Amino acid sequence: MRVHYLLAVEPSRVEVALKVGVLTGGGDCPGLNAVIRAIARKGIIRYGYVIYGIYNGWKGLMQEGLVRPLDLADTSGILPRGGTILKTSRTNPFKIDGGQEKVLENLKKNNIQALIAVGGDDTLNVAAKLYELGIKVVGVPKTIDNDIFGTDRTFGFDTAVNIATEAIDRLHTTAESHNRVMVVEVMGRHTGWIAIESGLAGGADMILIPEKPANLDEVCTLIKRRHERGKDFSIVVVAEGVKIKTPEHPEGMVVIKDGSVDEFGHVRLGGVGNFVAQEIEKRLGFESRVVVLGHIQRGGSPTAFDRNLGTRYGLYAIDLVHQGKFGYFAALRGSDIVAVSLSEMAGKTRTVDDDFYRMAEVFFG
Ligand code: F6P
Repeated sequence: MRVHYLLAVEPSRVEVALKVGVLTGGGDCPGLNAVIRAIARKGIIRYGYVIYGIYNGWKGLMQEGLVRPLDLADTSGILPRGGTILKTSRTNPFKIDGGQEKVLENLKKNNIQALIAVGGDDTLNVAAKLYELGIKVVGVPKTIDNDIFGTDRTFGFDTAVNIATEAIDRLHTTAESHNRVMVVEVMGRHTGWIAIESGLAGGADMILIPEKPANLDEVCTLIKRRHERGKDFSIVVVAEGVKIKTPEHPEGMVVIKDGSVDEFGHVRLGGVGNFVAQEIEKRLGFESRVVVLGHIQRGGSPTAFDRNLGTRYGLYAIDLVHQGKFGYFAALRGSDIVAVSLSEMAGKTRTVDDDFYRMAEVFFG
């Protein structure tokens, strides 16, 4: 039976209830449903708000029929579920003819008085622009890539790292049995967070990340050194966005799937693992295999850490709405959740720092 908890709120509060829209944009990640659940729970029960789900990311504000009320029954039981009950898309209203006007018009038509945008840098950049246009918006940072400037962690990242670490553990036993080099390609776009954290946790023998363009001669020298020490297998973790130095591209080249770009101008990465495995086999004569983890890193149930981080972000975001503190996103600094201005993160990327890389480097080769 569907329970309409809103009826429990005093009639006077219902009449003046603030209408808050929630959307999830960009690539999905585990933990999105924890955020939505927390927003609905505290928004409805504590503040007496009416929560609206905006479906398919920003697309939901550009088409008809994608803004629907979200009650407690809709958001119950979703905490362990991966993906997003609100669906998502990579839509940039500012790149579509008339997109900005459509978004503003739809917010007005649906009487959405405050908006919570849950997404990566692209979604939050759109939120920042809308705020400048007068929309009361707050953000929540999500992405498996952990690349959002201004926060120590995005939710979804911990789950992705755990999935990649488990894969590396499993690849160890088969690599060792066959005396092979196993190259594991992980996601992360133009940062190496997933690669470095899963590689470190999984005991990888080499980790290649976008922040450090790779010279394959040096990579092979280190693998050879390891094998000369008596090890006859190696695990190499490669971030999809790593730049490989070649004589033609001394600063490094990125391997892309095809030339296509999305509405935010991102190329589709992927394939560098194959290139690295082939080069290692060619240069060293060690039998090599490649595993591309791909979207497995984004699927399935969130870890306890991501469920709790998502829950804390969701609660904080609805509190920001309640305080009337718009133009900010919920961020993790140390162990505290704080408000960071959307304009502070806009256009920036959080990359792996040198100290962290140097720590991982101790275990290379
Ligand atoms: O931003 C998250 C991410 O998974 C990146 O790591 C990856 O490059 C990209 O999205 C893949 O995008 P799509 O789901 O559109 O293939």
